Amino acid sequence: MKEILKQLEAKRAEARSGGGTSRVKAQHLKGKLTARERLEVLLDENSFEEFDMFVSHRCVDFDMASNKIPGDGVITGWGKINGRLVYVFSQDFTVFGGSLSETHAKKICKVMDMAMQNGAPIIGLNDSGGARIQEGVASLAGYAEVFKRNILASGVVPQISVIMGPCAGGAVYSPAITDFIFMVRNSSYMFVTGPEVVKTVTNEIVTAEELGGANTHTTRSSVADGAFDNDIETLRAIRRLYSFLPLSNREKPPVLISFDNVDRVETSLDTLIPDNPNSPYDMRELIIKIADEYDFFELQEDFAKNIIIGFIRLEGYSIGVVANQPLTLAGCLDIDSSKKAARFVRFCDAFEIPLLTLVDVPGFLPGVAQEYGGVIKHGAKLLFAYGEATVPKVTVITRKAYGGAYDVMSSKHLRGDFNYAWPTAEIAVMGAKGAVEIIYRSELSDKNKINRLTNSYEERFANPFVAAEQGFIDDIIMPRSTRKRVLQAFGSLRGKKVINPWKKHDNIPL
Ligand code: HXC
Repeated sequence: MKEILKQLEAKRAEARSGGGTSRVKAQHLKGKLTARERLEVLLDENSFEEFDMFVSHRCVDFDMASNKIPGDGVITGWGKINGRLVYVFSQDFTVFGGSLSETHAKKICKVMDMAMQNGAPIIGLNDSGGARIQEGVASLAGYAEVFKRNILASGVVPQISVIMGPCAGGAVYSPAITDFIFMVRNSSYMFVTGPEVVKTVTNEIVTAEELGGANTHTTRSSVADGAFDNDIETLRAIRRLYSFLPLSNREKPPVLISFDNVDRVETSLDTLIPDNPNSPYDMRELIIKIADEYDFFELQEDFAKNIIIGFIRLEGYSIGVVANQPLTLAGCLDIDSSKKAARFVRFCDAFEIPLLTLVDVPGFLPGVAQEYGGVIKHGAKLLFAYGEATVPKVTVITRKAYGGAYDVMSSKHLRGDFNYAWPTAEIAVMGAKGAVEIIYRSELSDKNKINRLTNSYEERFANPFVAAEQGFIDDIIMPRSTRKRVLQAFGSLRGKKVINPWKKHDNIPL
């Protein structure tokens, strides 16, 4: 008996050593943790339960029969994050470069199936040279099995991808389907075709970092939702993100104990809006002052900065925030900001996270590039996402809400539940100057008259009262009491039940 126990321990030790000391050292020299060390940072202490530690590949070509490493390049199992269940896989670059074989894929599929069956999120730590070259099409089939599960799990359990090394070729499409992608700066990259192929085909010369590094994907492509300086920071951010999410679409998001005052008044908000209506201010200040403990977890902060998205808590409940940011492009909606916010709204709706929308939007960004780029279809995504969302929706208009953008930003007409305005709100078809210049085009040369008309248009429309008279705004609230009012509104919506008409699925303008 003792002998068998010893054998088991020896086999476990062999599996735990991955690709061996020298490869582990090489991994550390690159500033990267090993697959197991990463799971230790990600999960609660001693909570990890491993599956399939002894699985090895079945390939016999290229002398592979004599080259087997238990675990086959991926560590899979389940554990806890702050006491809540999560399924995980962590690719081990020290074993065949973390490449995906048939059995490696089967291990991933097994935890994905368990996550779906038991209603818990799945987090994948990606660090892989892609398809196991020795296995050919068996490996491609393995990828497709993973993709299929990603697709079926979408909207059922939250899926999070962390890119912590290479992720190239078709392999990128599994993370791409998941809900959130976080990357590590300078040690991870994602691209469909690498720098060599790019050079051959298009003659462009780029490094892997330039083509698909964390900065590229958080500032230009928006493929990734966050970038962090090293493995530890990235994994800690994932733990934080996880705390806002429900285990599945069958459950509500977790409610944490909040020590913040529900009646907290922020007098400084009364002067947040500058006297000059064209001066910017930082909408983030409002988000932070509304949030429990001033805590805001922002996503995609370096992309489409004219809109802000992220999570806060109110009375301990998770809330998704979407807010126009007047500091960038005056807070206009454009292609990028519409896409960014629309996907976030849909995520929140899929997982029953209520939505808070803060509005200061002068309209859609005009321009040839925007029209040629399809701002019509992309803007429609946000409109569609808000309109179909059945979660509690509370909106606060702080200043401008002009034109179509007023409708889009979770207006009453798109089933907003509580729509509040600050006294500084201006809800109109467009700004007074533009409006008068159109209505009185033939009298533009009479500057005095135009100024007079602009003032009277402003007086009539640059306020929240016209909309409030029609019931499109439920109340005009004091900026200082925004937290309290928003919190009360969400509190009253906890029992909200709205069901959309039956359909196979919708046809959002992709
Ligand atoms: C098998 C692989 C491998 C792979 C790396 N290794 N990639 N083994 N299949 N795809 C092995 C290496 O042989 C080496 O083994 C170890 O992993 C580390 O690799 P190095 O090259 O020494 O590391 P590094 O210099 O850091 O370079 C990493 C790399 C490079 C950039 C990922 O290895 C590379 O270019 N690999 C090939 C990438 C690729 O073309 N993959 C297929 C893409 S197509 P030893 O024993 O020496 O430690 C694809 C299609 C997916 O993935 C389609 C889905 C639909």
